[in-house]
Amino acid sequence: MESVTFLSGFMAAIFYFAASVLLYGLFYKIFQYTKTPAPLKIPTMPAPLTRTGVGFRIFKEVVIFESLFKSNKATWLFGWLFHFGLFLDMLRHLRYFIDPIWGWVAFIQPFGKYGSILMVVGLLGLLGRRIFVDRVRYISSPSDHLMLVLLLAISSTGIAMSFYLGADVISVKSFFIGLFTFDIQYIPPDPILISHLIMVAFLMIIFPYSKLLHAPGLFFSPSRNQVDNAREKRHISKWAADLEK
Ligand code: HEM
Repeated sequence: MESVTFLSGFMAAIFYFAASVLLYGLFYKIFQYTKTPAPLKIPTMPAPLTRTGVGFRIFKEVVIFESLFKSNKATWLFGWLFHFGLFLDMLRHLRYFIDPIWGWVAFIQPFGKYGSILMVVGLLGLLGRRIFVDRVRYISSPSDHLMLVLLLAISSTGIAMSFYLGADVISVKSFFIGLFTFDIQYIPPDPILISHLIMVAFLMIIFPYSKLLHAPGLFFSPSRNQVDNAREKRHISKWAADLEK
C-alpha cells in the first residue's frame, strides 16, 4: 500500500506541476500575442468586409479548416480527422473531472470512444506524410515527428484500456476530482494508465512552448482576423499610433 501512496503523491505532484506550466504558459503566450503589433493590413484575399464576416471566417477555419482544405486535400483530411476525433474524445474525458456527469456528456460517451479511432487514423496519415512526402520530410524537424508520436502513444494506451484491458475509471475520477480540492486520492498502479497519464502531463508541459500553440494562435493571425477595409479606414498599429502622438 505504501508504494500506492507514493505513486498517488508522485502523480499528483506531476499533474500540479503540469497544470501550472500549462496555465501560466498559455496565459503568458496569449498576453504576448495580444501585445504583438500587426503593422500591415494583410488579410488573405478575398477577405470579409465586416467584423461579423471575420467572425464567420475564423469560425470556418476552426471548424472545417477551410484554408487547409483549399491548399492540400490529403493533409486536410488527416488533420481534420485527428482534430475532430480528439474533440469528441476530450468531451468523453470530461467524465473524469465533473460529478455528477451532465446529460450531454453521458450521451457523447460512445461517440468519444470511437473518436479515438479517427484520431489514430489521422495521426498515422500525418506521420506518413512527414515520412514519405519528400518535400515535407525535408522541412520536418525532430519535434514535428515527436509530437505526432507522443499523440499516437497517448491514443494507443487509451485505446488499449478502453477496448481491451479496461481501467479502474472510478478511481481515476476520484483521483482527478480530489486534485481540485488538494485531497490526494488513490490512483491504481496500472502501468498502461500511468504511462497514459505521464504522457498527458508531458503534453500539457510542452503545449505552451511548442507548435501546439497554433490552437490559440489561429485567432491572432492577421491574415485571417483582419477586415478588408483598407480603402475606408487607415490601418495604424498601436505602436505606430503612439509614435504619431
Ligand atoms: C488528465 C487527463 C486524462 C485522463 C485522466 C485520461 C484517462 C483515460 C482513461 C482512464 C482512459 C480509458 C477509458 C476506458 O477504459 O473507458 C482513457 C482513454 C483514452 N484517452 Fe485519455 N486521459 C486523459 C487525457 C487524454 C488526452 C489529452 C488524450 C489525447 C491527446 C487522451 C486520449 C485517450 C484516448 C484516445 C483514449 C481511448 C478512447 C476513450 O476511451 O476515450 N487522453 N483516458
